[in-house]
Amino acid sequence: MNYWKILVLILLVPFLMQCTPAGKPTAGDPYDHRVDSVMATMTLEEKIGQMTLFTSDWDVTGPTLRENYKEDIKAGRTGAIFNAHTAAYNRELQRIAVEESRAKIPLLFGYDVIHGYKTIFPIPLGEAASWDLAAIELAASVAAAEAAASGLHWTFAPMVDIARDPRWGRVMEGSGEDPYLGSLVGRARVRGFQGEGFENGDKVLACVKHFAAYGAAAGGRDYNTVDMSDRLLRDIYLPPYKAAVEEGAYTVMTSFNELDGVPATANRYLLTDILREEWGFKGFVVTDYTSINEMVFHGNVADDKEAGEQSINAGVDMDMQGAVFYNHLKKSIEEGKVSEAQVDQAVRNILRLKFVLGLFDDPYRFMDIEREKRVVFSKENQDAALDVARKSIVLLRNENQTLPLSKTLRSVAVIGPLADNKVELIGAWSGAGNGNDCISLLQGIQNKTAGSMQVRHAMGCDFEGTDQSGFAAAVNLARQSDAVIVAVGEKAQMSGEAASRSDITLPGVQEELVKALVATGKPVVVVLMNGRPLAIPWIAENAPAVLETWFLGTQAGNAIADVLFGDYNPSGKLPMTFPRNEGQIPIFYNNKNTGRPFDAANKYTSKYLDVPNTPQYPFGWGLSYTSFAYEGIGADKTEFSAQDTVRIRITLSNTGARDGAEVVQLYVRDLVGSVTRPLRELKGFQKVFLAAGAKQELTFKLTANDLAFHTRDMTFRAEPGYFDVFIGGNSDATQSIRIQLAE
Ligand code: GLC
Repeated sequence: MNYWKILVLILLVPFLMQCTPAGKPTAGDPYDHRVDSVMATMTLEEKIGQMTLFTSDWDVTGPTLRENYKEDIKAGRTGAIFNAHTAAYNRELQRIAVEESRAKIPLLFGYDVIHGYKTIFPIPLGEAASWDLAAIELAASVAAAEAAASGLHWTFAPMVDIARDPRWGRVMEGSGEDPYLGSLVGRARVRGFQGEGFENGDKVLACVKHFAAYGAAAGGRDYNTVDMSDRLLRDIYLPPYKAAVEEGAYTVMTSFNELDGVPATANRYLLTDILREEWGFKGFVVTDYTSINEMVFHGNVADDKEAGEQSINAGVDMDMQGAVFYNHLKKSIEEGKVSEAQVDQAVRNILRLKFVLGLFDDPYRFMDIEREKRVVFSKENQDAALDVARKSIVLLRNENQTLPLSKTLRSVAVIGPLADNKVELIGAWSGAGNGNDCISLLQGIQNKTAGSMQVRHAMGCDFEGTDQSGFAAAVNLARQSDAVIVAVGEKAQMSGEAASRSDITLPGVQEELVKALVATGKPVVVVLMNGRPLAIPWIAENAPAVLETWFLGTQAGNAIADVLFGDYNPSGKLPMTFPRNEGQIPIFYNNKNTGRPFDAANKYTSKYLDVPNTPQYPFGWGLSYTSFAYEGIGADKTEFSAQDTVRIRITLSNTGARDGAEVVQLYVRDLVGSVTRPLRELKGFQKVFLAAGAKQELTFKLTANDLAFHTRDMTFRAEPGYFDVFIGGNSDATQSIRIQLAE
């Protein structure tokens, strides 16, 4: 095409764009025509620029390779920037793009808004412990509103990686070990982030990550090798990604790991066969941070250029920070290793979402400084953060009704490295959050008791190290107090990316501190703050009460105080199994029976010599200040066909003296399959609030599709036969009924 034609088209583009209102339906996709009109004006270099994502220098989430990204913007060598935020800063970068570059294509701004932008919510594993999908969606919605008010269009979330290994630091970022819960949480987060549209400038594009099976890293060691059967991949690890894509997530991020010998970033089976052809994904695929370059280390390519060719040919559209397309793609096209049609398709996938966001109509829509002041860190958002935080707390143990603490106590001692700490409570992946904005546990208790009791603090020990010199003062304070609250756990950065731990016990001498405090005989409440399941066997057997509070974010202290003093009855349930020790790992509830299931009377059965097979706390575990009884399990039919719906009923009673919420869980066991089947699989749950003394009949619906799995020949279907259905308050549920799927 000669330059005169390009010049005419450039002159026409603004007119064309004006006379084709955003979203006006045209043949095919409503944006096709508008994308075509922009594509027609672009040079190959500018197309490659749209496929290139660079970080600003505002926040570092990986090895920064680029220095002058502003020059790259002006030259059209990048179409998206991440780690840049605030309306003012991004407005300036956007101005460079739409006023100083030749093609004047608006930038896309991305950021890791994982559990909040400025108002920080519980870490995602904590939110998952709420089993409250409305609360989880609310958290994502608030995060989106604050991010979108701060110049951002795109969050690199939800992370939906199934994780069965608590040594892996990124368990904090997902929803735990179960595909059913993980799928529903992934959908809720996509709804919260993306809503029904972007015209109000309060929603952002979601990015489902890390595709795929990143959580299965061998040994729980981050970035390590992943190798599994296609059946395990499809039955356990893929469902949450699929659910998020079905919920409409606009983007997907590749994972660092290899899968079956092929790095995910070059894995056509994942990125094209499954994601696009089986699931119908229409958005764009972005790599993780320099994951194209890292294929040279994986050893499946000789150099960056080959890595770029393999990633495009697998289905990648955008290169995060690696500058591989930027440096090599033009030559790959000249050599015929990649076609310009492939580049055009990648660019279309990207430009389309810039139209979906409305950026061509108003590049500054998300950069209103006055709105940013109104929305970010508002009182309403703080209230939402408190609500979600309270719902995320799990009561693990409560002997002799140690909790809730009476508000008439004369004095409490608040002890431990996390007692008067703010900055750790924000957790890893805390976006633009500021740890100093967090309410510490000590502050939350002081707020709660408002001078009605003596609240005194001693640190006792540090997070790490062997120094016990602070024990004496802590024990002495405990002896002088009516009750003791000891806050122990991890530092925020002891979980998250590149933060795997081979030893998941309490760091340092924290457990020794707890032992010293329990030895006083005082009522001791252990408050755990951590990013992963911990091995706490002594505490689990000896502490009067244990609360799992994860890292609850900005309103942490207030939320924990509400639970400690009974203003909120804890309702959380574990989304991930707590092992007794690392030796049990991997340990998860939906395991198989084996040919020699454990039998205490038979030596030659599956067991360890030094620890039971059972976990410290099972998946779905969580207590309440009240008690619940399950009775009268039944079904409207015990034989059903593939077309039927079975209605399983149970009566739940609040048999205690306090109102409370219970997560009623339904599990299924397929007794005989063409391949071995798990002992339990979560197939339903309902979070139910019941007043003290009240009872309610609940109904769960089951269909053959709920019982489907990848059978011996890998077809996805339910197989006729018997199924045991279990309902209860955790994965050890005992109320059961047998049903039969007819031939
Ligand atoms: C990191 C993470 C990914 C994140 C990206 C951008 O390495 O793996 O989850 O979204 O880089 O910060």
